Amino acid sequence: MKLTALSIKKDFPRAGRTSNFFTAVRETDFELCSGQMIVITGRSGSGKSTLLNMLAGLLKPSAGKVLLDGTDVYSLGDRALSMLRNRFIGLIPQSNTALNSLTVLENVVLPTVLYSPAEPPCERAQALLAQLGLGLMPGEKPGALSGGELRRLCVARALISQPGLVLADEPTAGLDDENTLSVLSLLRKSADDGAGVLVVTHEKEAERFADSVFTMNAGLLSR
Ligand SMILES: Nc1ncnc2c1ncn2[C@@H]1O[C@H](COP(=O)(O)OP(=O)(O)O)[C@@H](O)[C@H]1O
Ligand SMILES: [Mg+2]
Repeated sequence: MKLTALSIKKDFPRAGRTSNFFTAVRETDFELCSGQMIVITGRSGSGKSTLLNMLAGLLKPSAGKVLLDGTDVYSLGDRALSMLRNRFIGLIPQSNTALNSLTVLENVVLPTVLYSPAEPPCERAQALLAQLGLGLMPGEKPGALSGGELRRLCVARALISQPGLVLADEPTAGLDDENTLSVLSLLRKSADDGAGVLVVTHEKEAERFADSVFTMNAGLLSR
């Protein structure tokens, strides 16, 4: 599986200033392949999330293309794009999201039941939760979890389908050292098992898990 970005950039409109747009990500080429873990570090506001969201099929670039195994992601209609994301991309969003009407376990298996009548992989979900220190919490509601516990729920949910690509936006935000290590180890293991993994973070610790490290600086990606 290969995710390719060709000359993508993102401008945001900016009201009431001299220039009427602001370039959050400057023209960028990028490639993520199976089995590879790439870490992008950079200061807050440098454009990391904007880049990741464009790669994830969530934010249309102002110019350029995102290709998933050759398919032009933004040429697809809403439903086709949603299905493609669900099938191939495990996303850890920058902000924690979970449905409070469902239990922790139900939230984790949610991606596997959205477009498929198959039985949810509850054993795998339970194993992931245990690896993330949430083994005793499958029946809780997300509202009862701490910020760090919720973060780890998002990690388990992103990995449940064993997606070909994992896109992680600050996956260790708000975690202590021990949980930071378990999350980074799980992401590394996903890459070793064949996924292409992208982590954007300002956590220095992540760099030693990576096959390659890039830096984002004022919208410019460099080695
Ligand atoms: N929807 C938006 N509208 C306008 N500006 C935005 C929007 N999203 C992000 N930005 C701006 O783009 C820049 C990069 O943001 P972001 O990609 O979130 O950075 P990072 O993830 O590295 O902290 C910031 O200056 C931010 O304010
Ligand atoms: Mg960000």
